[in-house]
Amino acid sequence: MTEGRSVDDTVTLFVNAAQTVTCAGPARARRGAEMQDAGVQFGAGVAVQGDRIVAVDDDGALRRRYPNAAEIDCDRGVLAPGFVDSHTHAVFGRARYEEHELRATGVPYLEIAARGGGIHASVRDLRSRSDDELFSLAVPRLQMLAAGGVTTVEIKSGYGLTVHDELRTLRVVARLAAAGPLNIMATCLGAHEVPLEYRERHDGRAAWIDCLTYELYPAVAAEQLARFADVFCELGVFTVPETRRLLEAAREHGMLPKLHADELHDGGAAVLAVELGATSADHLAAVSPAGIAALAASSTVATLLPATMLFLGTGRQAPARALIEAGAAIAIATDLNPGTSPLQSFPLVLTLAVSQLRLSASEAWIAGTVNGAAALGLAGITGQLREGFRADVAVHTADDFRALPYWFGERLCRVAWAGGRACHVSV
Ligand code: NIG
Ligand code: FE
Repeated sequence: MTEGRSVDDTVTLFVNAAQTVTCAGPARARRGAEMQDAGVQFGAGVAVQGDRIVAVDDDGALRRRYPNAAEIDCDRGVLAPGFVDSHTHAVFGRARYEEHELRATGVPYLEIAARGGGIHASVRDLRSRSDDELFSLAVPRLQMLAAGGVTTVEIKSGYGLTVHDELRTLRVVARLAAAGPLNIMATCLGAHEVPLEYRERHDGRAAWIDCLTYELYPAVAAEQLARFADVFCELGVFTVPETRRLLEAAREHGMLPKLHADELHDGGAAVLAVELGATSADHLAAVSPAGIAALAASSTVATLLPATMLFLGTGRQAPARALIEAGAAIAIATDLNPGTSPLQSFPLVLTLAVSQLRLSASEAWIAGTVNGAAALGLAGITGQLREGFRADVAVHTADDFRALPYWFGERLCRVAWAGGRACHVSV
């Protein structure tokens, strides 16, 4: 991690921005038409003290109020909240180049998994690596995310698939969080797959579900290793009744539900997410009209992962416009993982949100900040430039907030601070 300045009482002003994307408003997910307002201001700066934003005001007013403050010159760029990447699988071992090519020849993702590849390949690999290796492999991935202006990252386990290896993964996530400076949230995705050694047993599915329920979840809770539990609810992976049972068990151990829902087939997972009061339902490329209606009438955030669909080459994307028009709250995330989305650039997700999901630039910004925060239960903490919020701030070299989705593939982030500490400075 980049060494940040220590958090102290010094006030720092971010000044001389061309545009300031505040995303200011209620401390909850923005839904439907609310997503159209990213709170863009002209001439506004931000004052940071310790790990907090203490004021957002015009530059002159900030300088009068804090005459001795240090200053960061935004150089007529875009000043904005740090992005919240609310869905990643950033702790894994090797890349899976071979599958990328195999899919190009027409072999589908779930078929590769059925042959023992896919998630299973990453599981074999992770189990063979030490904790230190896993930590060292994850650090540069987080640095790459930070270099795109991300200041909060959710990381899921799910490539261990034994109690021992899932706990090891989550302890690596805890180490990454302690190392800082990024804000990290952990999710237990022990229900990412039925491990091959269980698939080979005739009672294997039930035995693995019992293992998660009676061994893994209590152990994760005992060490307080994860805020959320997630399940890959998909044809051939976990069914809706299995997912319900798993997430209810996880909730008994204090973990809040999240779902990989209706990614490739509509199995009613979005409806289940709403029934369970899940914090988010993620993917949704195959969500049904009933799923859309349920999400729109709920506080479950619909997290869309357009890079995954692009990388899988399915030619399909989640019905983002239908979700927004029905009144749902949409977040966007990288889904950084070695199988379906080896993507470490959050700004590229903004591009895909506009070009593939048909969001406006304002909607994409809200989806990547406030609504990403809400997808992690952090809507009162981050995702906005607002007094009292955590000092998660980024400066981009751009004359207009719409430049981020527009100049796709560019690296425009100059500076990012997470919790009042530098997590990226471009060289
Ligand atoms: O979000 N869909 C399930 N999980 C991941 C992919 C995991 C993998 O292929 O390694 C996802 O796309
Ligand atoms: Fe995922």
